[in-house]
Amino acid sequence: MNRPELSLALVGFGHVARRFVRLLDEVADRLEFTWRVVAISTRHHGSVIDVDGIEVNRAVATVEARQSLDRLDRVPRERSGIDVIRQVADALADEAAEGRLVCIETTVLDIDRGEPAVSHVRAALEGQAHVVTANKGPAAFAYHELEALAESVDRIFFFEGAVMDGVPVFNLVRDTMPAVSVEGFRGVINSTCNFILSELERGKEFEPALAEMQARGIAEANPSLDIDGWDAAAKTAALVNVLMGSAITPHHVRRTGISEVTGIDVREAISRGRRIRLVASASRQGGKVKAQVEPEMVDRHDPLYGLEDLENALYLNTDLLGQVGIVQRSGGLTQTAYALLSDLASISARLREI
Ligand SMILES: NC(=O)c1ccc[n+]([C@@H]2O[C@H](COP(=O)([O-])OP(=O)(O)OC[C@H]3O[C@@H](n4cnc5c(N)ncnc54)[C@H](OP(=O)(O)O)[C@@H]3O)[C@@H](O)[C@H]2O)c1
Repeated sequence: MNRPELSLALVGFGHVARRFVRLLDEVADRLEFTWRVVAISTRHHGSVIDVDGIEVNRAVATVEARQSLDRLDRVPRERSGIDVIRQVADALADEAAEGRLVCIETTVLDIDRGEPAVSHVRAALEGQAHVVTANKGPAAFAYHELEALAESVDRIFFFEGAVMDGVPVFNLVRDTMPAVSVEGFRGVINSTCNFILSELERGKEFEPALAEMQARGIAEANPSLDIDGWDAAAKTAALVNVLMGSAITPHHVRRTGISEVTGIDVREAISRGRRIRLVASASRQGGKVKAQVEPEMVDRHDPLYGLEDLENALYLNTDLLGQVGIVQRSGGLTQTAYALLSDLASISARLREI
């Protein structure tokens, strides 16, 4: 296939998905695929299906005006994300069979069970669609089941945006580190917490710093997921499941957030030449993987010491390459949207190989 046309079913149409569709337009001439959006599903803003292609700008404007997408549908009706996925997979069965149907899953993180995102991924794979998601839930709660399903139907299940936005983590290991075993990792992987800690160091207050992250679309819809360490625990579980081959959930990660950290604490740390950072880590111990997320005092020699604001870093401990560091100096919506785009480009590359 020369320049495949991909049909995109968007389940979730919030900050990330809207930035993603704009980004696709902005860099269209750099892409080796074309696309049309055939479905959009939301929780409170209705849904629309049009296999001939939805007018995306109109859909963005509709949701940003807090109106329902139902008004764009020829036969508007109430349907869940799973209904939308199944309906599209049925209507586009030929495209699905050719591997040109992709479900882009960007619903919110559910920290109890990763639902309904896990079910969305399952339904899409069962309908022979590839799946790309920025949601941590599927890889954090059900990676092995979903990956096995994807393999059994010869489809891709990618989630690069789940950790450190678009900076390569999963695809770096998958595509460039054959035969390497990841024995553990340590990093700062939650931008909202790092921003709040940086603001506290500058003498600012906790609440306005969190409000700024919410206004910029970076904090989770439920901010407790960030400040109580759940988001970092979900990323940690995803990293453990995918890179270390273990099978855990965020509930197996020992977790302390930053809600108890005060301005006095961080400035006291600075006065002693240290900084408080929310550190996620995992290591193999006696045949098991131990994973944790907690505020740590880091000193000047620690590679995590210099991370400010939205900066993240992850250091992988490997058997064949020693320590490999991945640093993200700019985080934000464009970078997360790019993660979806890069996963989509991998799907298109695979189609072009056929
Ligand atoms: N924002 C970031 O910087 C960032 C970075 C990395 C990863 N992520 C992850 O990316 C995902 C999306 O983030 P976001 O910032 O775009 O969130 P968001 O702005 O809150 O948007 C979430 C979208 O999902 C929809 N939704 C929720 N439950 C649904 C359901 N059951 N069925 C169908 N649609 C549903 C929402 O619909 P309504 O609006 O109608 O409720 C909304 O369109 C999250 O999993 C997040 O953890 C975000």
